[in-house]
Amino acid sequence: MESDLRAAGRSVRESRSMCVLTGAGVSAESGVPTFRGPGGMWRNRDPMSLATPEAFAADPKTVWEWYQWRRDLIRKCAPNPGHAAIARIEREKGDFLLVTQNVDGLHRLAGSRKLVEFHGSIWAVRCTGCGREEEIRSDFPLLPPRCPSCGALLRPGVVWFGEQIPPSALEASLAMLGRCDLLLVAGTSSVVQPSASFAFSVAQRGGTVIEVNLEETPVSGAARFSFRGKAGELLPAILGRADPP
Ligand code: OAD
Repeated sequence: MESDLRAAGRSVRESRSMCVLTGAGVSAESGVPTFRGPGGMWRNRDPMSLATPEAFAADPKTVWEWYQWRRDLIRKCAPNPGHAAIARIEREKGDFLLVTQNVDGLHRLAGSRKLVEFHGSIWAVRCTGCGREEEIRSDFPLLPPRCPSCGALLRPGVVWFGEQIPPSALEASLAMLGRCDLLLVAGTSSVVQPSASFAFSVAQRGGTVIEVNLEETPVSGAARFSFRGKAGELLPAILGRADPP
């Protein structure tokens, strides 16, 4: 693995246009639970049954209780060396884009700026009536919260199953996927579309795909380098270590 890590590191240094796609596994070592796999459940419920417009329509209070639980938990989490390594490599590259499926905001906290929050942000709150959206980091005393302007239900500003990726996020990501020579895919199970197809589209164009994950995923076969291990250890090894803050 050592020599592969060095070769992958060389590909990163040589890349002129680099895209990084991250998922919940990158924040796992910060203490944020992943969606699938051990530790993903909440009150014995599969998060997938909560992250839908239907679940919200049927029981907004329960869905908000889950989000409030996650917001409380994430508020106490800090970026890990994986987030830091991604923020550092961005500063070395002219053409760079981080596409994250994570809604926790940890990439931004680590210093990433050229990033697209593909599934929105857990700190964004949107009115289901007037559409007003704002960032609210504090707890809501009453759940489900209501819009101070129009009284309609507020919802988390995230993308749920069956909903569209925000057009600007999709456009920026597809443009990058069409031109990057390197895609690093880290900590995602690669089962949720459209991000699950990113690796195939870059590999098909002859670009280099590097994968970092604890386990094999559907995109492992498309990757030139596929590393099994923790993102917090492998990303600094591939991308170079960030200076201590
Ligand atoms: P998942 O929970 O599906 O997958 C997490 C992945 O991270 C798994 O493949 C794990 O093997 C891997 N993993 C866990 N810990 C790791 C570590 N320390 N280092 C490296 N890899 C690790 O999360 P996502 O792929 O992000 O969407 O899920 C995609 C989307 O499904 C989420 O954005 C969310 C969810 O439903 C919506 O809510 C729309």
